Amino acid sequence: MNEKNVATVSHLTKDYGTGGSFTHVLKGIDLEIQKNDFIAIMGPSGSGKTTLLNILSTIDKPTQGSVMLDGTDVTKASNQELSRLRRDKIGFIFQDYNLLDTMTLLDNIVLPLSLNGVSAKRCMERANELTELFGLTEHLAKYPYQLSGGQKQRGASCRALITRPEILFADEPTGALDSRSSKDLLERLKMVNDGGKATILMVTHDAFSASYAKDVYILSDGQIQCRISKGESRKEFYDKITDMQAAMGGGDFS
Ligand SMILES: Nc1ncnc2c1ncn2[C@@H]1O[C@H](COP(=O)(O)OP(=O)(O)O)[C@@H](O)[C@H]1O
Ligand SMILES: [Mg+2]
Repeated sequence: MNEKNVATVSHLTKDYGTGGSFTHVLKGIDLEIQKNDFIAIMGPSGSGKTTLLNILSTIDKPTQGSVMLDGTDVTKASNQELSRLRRDKIGFIFQDYNLLDTMTLLDNIVLPLSLNGVSAKRCMERANELTELFGLTEHLAKYPYQLSGGQKQRGASCRALITRPEILFADEPTGALDSRSSKDLLERLKMVNDGGKATILMVTHDAFSASYAKDVYILSDGQIQCRISKGESRKEFYDKITDMQAAMGGGDFS
């Protein structure tokens, strides 16, 4: 494993159910994630995007195959090792934010650090840096119910990044946002990635969101069917992605 390698996924499969309800959801996924990648996994609804992301992020276990993360095979790790990985190495952004309602935005953002016993001063330094990047400095004292969806998701992104994880996983992060808030979030994630401050693996069914990544992998029939890499402009990349969707039968990416 070279030092730029963040994660290696080998021959990953996932089956659900037995008898008549048996389904092969993932049929052998191989994927390499390098430092500072921004990868979008796209695919039709039900193609296994969430299943794949949940296995990579240690939330779920595969049927077969391995996921090497920071030198550990997460599919075989003990609960103690998994807790360490989740605490120190992995950040996660959920579609529905998952902020704690009884805490201010600032307390939500610094929670992963304060749980680790990091001093209040260090927590504030790191929070200030991130909340500035995500345009949230005026909203830190507010509670989640006082924030828009876009502000909540930008806050959830700060919380996910505050421990400087090796990798940030995001499952349909713009799924609950309007188009303006989606664009705002994606531009900021891209900025953090361009600044060398995050390796991102994002799952989305949406070509617009995917066009902010550097590479797009299309998941269909349980396998990665192709990889599209960004050319000159985001617009050009968007066109390439939608052309590929159309070539694969179009439509059903919802
Ligand atoms: N816990 C589960 N038990 C049985 N089937 C499941 C489970 N989770 C997901 N599936 C099935 O696996 C397939 C892929 O689901 P999912 O990963 O959520 O797809 P996507 O995120 O691409 O929409 C779907 O057919 C879904 O019904
Ligand atoms: Mg999903």
